[in-house]
Amino acid sequence: MPSSRIFSGIQPSGELHIGNYLGAVKNWVALQRQYESFFCIVDYHAITVPYEPEDLRRRTRDMAVSLIASGIDPSACTLFVQSAVPEHTELAWIFNTVTPLGELERQTQFKDKSGRQESIFAGILNYPVLQAADILLYKADLVPVGEDQVQHLELSREIARRWNTRFSPGYAAHAADDESKRSEATSPETGMPAGPSADAAEVQGFFPEPKPLLTPTRRIMGLDGKAKMSKSLGNTVGLVEDPKDVWEKLRPAVTDPARVRRTDPGTPEVCNIYQLHKAFSPPETVDHVAVQCRTAGWGCIECKKVLFENMESELAPIRARVSDIRADEPKLDRILADGAEKARSVARATIAEAKVLMGLA
Ligand code: TYM
Repeated sequence: MPSSRIFSGIQPSGELHIGNYLGAVKNWVALQRQYESFFCIVDYHAITVPYEPEDLRRRTRDMAVSLIASGIDPSACTLFVQSAVPEHTELAWIFNTVTPLGELERQTQFKDKSGRQESIFAGILNYPVLQAADILLYKADLVPVGEDQVQHLELSREIARRWNTRFSPGYAAHAADDESKRSEATSPETGMPAGPSADAAEVQGFFPEPKPLLTPTRRIMGLDGKAKMSKSLGNTVGLVEDPKDVWEKLRPAVTDPARVRRTDPGTPEVCNIYQLHKAFSPPETVDHVAVQCRTAGWGCIECKKVLFENMESELAPIRARVSDIRADEPKLDRILADGAEKARSVARATIAEAKVLMGLA
C-alpha cells in the first residue's frame, strides 16, 4: 500500500458550485478516511485577481462552511486556510528559483486569466509555483482535482524533479538502499523474503512527484454548454442555491441541439443534462434517461425534471447543514485554527529539512 497522503486546494469563491463539488470536493469526502488528507482554502491564490478585503474574508468563511456541509469532516482530515500557514509562501519562493519562466508562460490558465486583465501582476504568473508549494509542503503524492488542474500538476512534478536533482541527488539512492534492505528482510507473516514494496519501482527524491486523482465528473460544463462551469464565467449552479433558482437555470439549459422538436430523437452522450444525470441520478435512471432520449420517449423538460429531483435529494441535506454550521461561528473558528496548527507542524518539518539541504540552515 503506497504511503499516500493527499492534498487539494480550493479558491475561496464563496459557496461551492456543482462544478467544483462534482470535480473535486465530492471525491475529497470519499477519500478523506482512506488517506491522510489535507484540504486547503487557498486565499493567497485568490488575491492574484482584483478583490475587496471584506469580501474575501466572507468568501473564505463561506467556503469553509460549504466544505463541511458537503461532508468534509474536520476530525477525519486537516482543513485549513492557506495564509494561516506561512510556510506555503516560504516554499513558493524557494521553488521560484528552480522554475523556468517559459513553463509559467505556457500555462493555459495564465494565458486565459492574463488575457482578461488590463495590467498583469507577477502573482498570476507565479500562481502555479505556489500551488506546487501547497502540495509538496505536505509531500503529498496524490491530488484529487478536476481536469483543469492537470497542467498545473504536471508543472508541480517538474518543479519537484528540478529541486530534487539540484538539492537532494543522494536522496533517491539512499531511499533505494533502504528499499533493498527491506527486500532482503523476511516477512513476519510468511517467513519468506519480503521482496520489494509496491512502490519500490518509484523510489522518490525528497519531494514526491504528485499525481492527479480524477473522477468521471472531471469537467462539468456550464448550463449554456459553452465552457467549463466557473464562478469567473458566471455560469454556475450553486450547491446551496435556492431550489427555485436552480430550476430557473436548469429549465432553459442547453441540450442536444438535434432535439429541435419534441419528437426528434437525441444522442445522450452529447447532452450536458445527461452528463449531470450521470453525476446525480442512480445508474438505473441514467440507463432509462439514455433510452428515453434516443427514442424521443421523453422531452428535454421531462428529463430535466427527473434530474432536478435527483439533484434535490443530494443537495437538500447539504443546504440544511449549512445553516447549522453557520449558527456556531466559534466552532468554525476552532476547526480552522486546529487545522492550521496540524498543517503547520507538518509544514515546519518539511521546510526545516529543505533549508538544510539547500544550505540555508
Ligand atoms: P478552483 O478553486 O478553481 O477549483 C477547485 C477544484 O474544483 C475543480 N473544478 C472543477 N471540476 C470539474 N468541473 C468544473 N467545472 C470545475 N470547476 C472547478 C478544480 O479542478 C479543482 O480541483 N488552482 C486551484 C486551487 C489550488 C490547488 C492547490 C488545487 C491551489 N493549490 C493545490 C490542488 C492542489 C483552483 O483554482 O481550483
